Amino acid sequence: MQKTLSEKAYNEASEFIPGGVNSPVRALRSVGASPLFIQQAKGAVLTDIDNRRYIDFCLSWGVHLHGHAHPAIVRASVDAVKRGSSYGIPTTAETLLARLVVESVPSIRKVRFVSSGTEAVMSAIRLARAHTGRDLILKFDGCYHGHADHLLVAAGSGAVGIRAGGTPDDAASSATTVGRSGASSAGVPEAFVRHTLSIPFNDLEAVKLVFRELGNQIAAIITEPLPANMGVIPPAPGFLQGLRDICNQYGSVLIFDEVITGFRLGRGGAQEHFGIRPDLTTLGKIIGGGFPAAAFGGKAEIMDRLAPLGKVYQAGTLSGNPVAMAAGIRTLQLLQEEGFYNRLEQKSQQFGDTIREFIRGKDIQLNQVGSLFTLFFSATPVTGFADATASDTQRFARFFRAMLGRGIYLSPSAFEASFISAAHTERQLAQTLDALRLVIDK
Ligand SMILES: Cc1ncc(COP(=O)(O)O)c(C=O)c1O
Repeated sequence: MQKTLSEKAYNEASEFIPGGVNSPVRALRSVGASPLFIQQAKGAVLTDIDNRRYIDFCLSWGVHLHGHAHPAIVRASVDAVKRGSSYGIPTTAETLLARLVVESVPSIRKVRFVSSGTEAVMSAIRLARAHTGRDLILKFDGCYHGHADHLLVAAGSGAVGIRAGGTPDDAASSATTVGRSGASSAGVPEAFVRHTLSIPFNDLEAVKLVFRELGNQIAAIITEPLPANMGVIPPAPGFLQGLRDICNQYGSVLIFDEVITGFRLGRGGAQEHFGIRPDLTTLGKIIGGGFPAAAFGGKAEIMDRLAPLGKVYQAGTLSGNPVAMAAGIRTLQLLQEEGFYNRLEQKSQQFGDTIREFIRGKDIQLNQVGSLFTLFFSATPVTGFADATASDTQRFARFFRAMLGRGIYLSPSAFEASFISAAHTERQLAQTLDALRLVIDK
């Protein structure tokens, strides 16, 4: 069979780049497909180098809330790059974006910018440890907080099923440990993960038990307030409040990793949506308007421990990059448009309601909160990592490929969220629903 240009490009990339990709899930191994190579994207539409068009529900893993190449964001970033792409010296753009973040996210009083979500989480954890003088971190199975050594424990996202190369079979059988240390990655020393505890999400009793034993050694609980890296898993009623109460009781820092949910579930993110204030928050994806920017922020008394004020070291050559700041500012300004989130919510709910109707009785679960959703091929509700990994990942892989064949690009893993953007048109959503119906009924 004739190879597509994407297949040829992938072969060539594989000669020079390990696995042909610069981030593992992009290889599409867990869905048994070969990656598309993209030439351009606009709104909700990707065009690959074979000139095939796809309605995109991955959106650079949740980055493009306004769709690809939004004209105002493009203009802001092009204007910025013309003035120089990096100075390593402060700009007022950093203050403007910081102000927008502080005004948007309820618990953030001060914020610092970095270049990736991984960096944001690493820095927030260092701060929490310095603030409490404790070492232990509690996280939840299937949550993903970037690829720093000490966070690759029972990690979600691309770390699921890494064991034998990320095939659907491994994902299903995944206990998510590969290294000698019990980490989710080889190459992580035991000493680096010894201070990271991981327990099931939505199990408040387990959290209480751990705290009764070790509470006065726990620096922080870190969680995605709405986990999206094992697929979307809504928090059980009272779970996030329970975490808040426990952290208050034991003097531990509550960190919400809002790299995905920040600015997506509302201007104030998941913390505004669920009405719980963490002590520290990490942000990424949407905040950089498609450029490498992320942030961590929170209470001033904790943030002011950062150098040069305090003794917690954290730095970055490209932190607060002026092009990323310009794109981020424009992105957040667009969110201030009257009714922005209502429109997104309504569109997403209608889309979800239609799916829910036609998957009834078909052993499929739609987990959806706002514009984030995951379809799990499971007869029973999926409320945690164990349920997610027990779902039929082979069936997901077939579903993904069939949708791709009909021009729909969903997030390419059973353990990821797909996203609806402000740019998806009614027509594109209807076209997607038609494809879904055909594929699921086949
Ligand atoms: C919740 C969460 N935290 C942290 C990260 C790491 O962000 P980055 O890939 O920018 O390092 C991700 C990435 O997907 C994420 O989803």
